[in-house]
Amino acid sequence: MSRRPLVAGNWKMFKTRGEALAFADGLKQGLGTSGDVEIAICPPFTSLDVLASAFAGSGVGVFGQNGHEDANGAHTGEISMEMLVDAGASGVLLGHSERRADNNETDQALARKVPAALAAGLTPVLCIGESEFERDSGTTKAVLDRQVLEGLSGVAIGDFAKVVVAYEPIWAIGTGKSATPEIAQEAHRWIRDQLREICQDAADQIRILYGGSVKPENAAELLSQPDIDGALVGGAALEPDSLLAIAAAATS
Ligand code: 13P
Repeated sequence: MSRRPLVAGNWKMFKTRGEALAFADGLKQGLGTSGDVEIAICPPFTSLDVLASAFAGSGVGVFGQNGHEDANGAHTGEISMEMLVDAGASGVLLGHSERRADNNETDQALARKVPAALAAGLTPVLCIGESEFERDSGTTKAVLDRQVLEGLSGVAIGDFAKVVVAYEPIWAIGTGKSATPEIAQEAHRWIRDQLREICQDAADQIRILYGGSVKPENAAELLSQPDIDGALVGGAALEPDSLLAIAAAATS
């Protein structure tokens, strides 16, 4: 089963609109060198529409970093899935560990957000991953099971193939300490086996991205693992050249 790799750059809370446009110029100049890989940028909300316009026709997607499950309502500071679509987004990150920690985002909330994203036509990227304490105490697989099963509990059986899962061990995020290819592959295989329990053969179509200190230097080895279908990149996605190098590694 071949899955088209996806390399997504999560900008977190970085870049003004002017900086985002300068990045888009640089990325577009290097496109075409990276082979058959889907590239998406997840900027702060303020840059969604300018980036969507800058990337129009280039094949590069623009994803939100969060979305609310309601179409609209009294939720100060929130943005709905429909608003993301209106701003030009084609996907959305959901449940990033920084949001789980900073904004108390729960598996129950994610169980509502994932179907809302699908209903709006967005590709949901459900982010999961264990902490260092959980890994050291031997509960990694239980944590991943809970995050996958609860986070995807609202997805209709026919929609599973559209879902993307990002495995981001918290201890590898922003630390420079990436998971080894063996550790990452073992977790990805485990996640796909759990997905098979809930959606049968569609599990082979679901792309599972690895995230956590992915750089041009370690991308090829990570992305050559059989169950790693792309990367969710933080720091190394802030410069066009390093993101392009990672995208090229995804197809090599
Ligand atoms: P880094 O690539 O900076 O470790 O960040 C990973 C991440 O959190 C992407 O969502």
